[in-house]
Amino acid sequence: MPVTRQQAEELFRKYNESESLYHHALSVETVMREAAERYGEDPEFWGIVGFLHDIDWEKFPEEHCRKAPELLKEIDAPDELIHAVCSHGYGLVSDVKPEHRMEKMLYTVDELTGLITATALMRPEKMKGITVKSIKKKWKDKSFAAGVNRTLISDGAAMLEMDVNDVIQLAIDGMTRIAPQLGLWPDEAE
Ligand SMILES: [Fe+2]
Ligand SMILES: [Fe+2]
Repeated sequence: MPVTRQQAEELFRKYNESESLYHHALSVETVMREAAERYGEDPEFWGIVGFLHDIDWEKFPEEHCRKAPELLKEIDAPDELIHAVCSHGYGLVSDVKPEHRMEKMLYTVDELTGLITATALMRPEKMKGITVKSIKKKWKDKSFAAGVNRTLISDGAAMLEMDVNDVIQLAIDGMTRIAPQLGLWPDEAE
């Protein structure tokens, strides 16, 4: 039985209380879905991988990516899902290398969604009308969202053999789909 979105939601809620982490999970999920659709892959599966990638972050930060397999087994997650989740910390907290295209995408968009969120929050119109250029401008400003590892994003794009600009556009498209839910859309009443 494949993991359902409902099971993923319950597992996430069991181990995470932070609303910002939830928004991060949703951001990565929506971009993973967008990417899967574009490549003719399974959007539900890619989305769930994205949604669950930081499952162990809030409660087990010291064991990030190493505690995840145990938690994911609670919902009988397949090895493919577990491997993908562990690989997102490659080179930082994990030695599981991203191999599958899905994993390379996850590795790349994890950081990228952070940069897009930070950029959108600076703009009155938030995600509305945001362009690759808006993101690139903030990318170059090293003091802005300094915690976002730009090198990791370019390394990920190289792994995917994609132009960084194309990955940014894909992530913008994915996040725009649920921008109101992410709190990244202007309040229409304003
Ligand atoms: Fe992580
Ligand atoms: Fe993450």
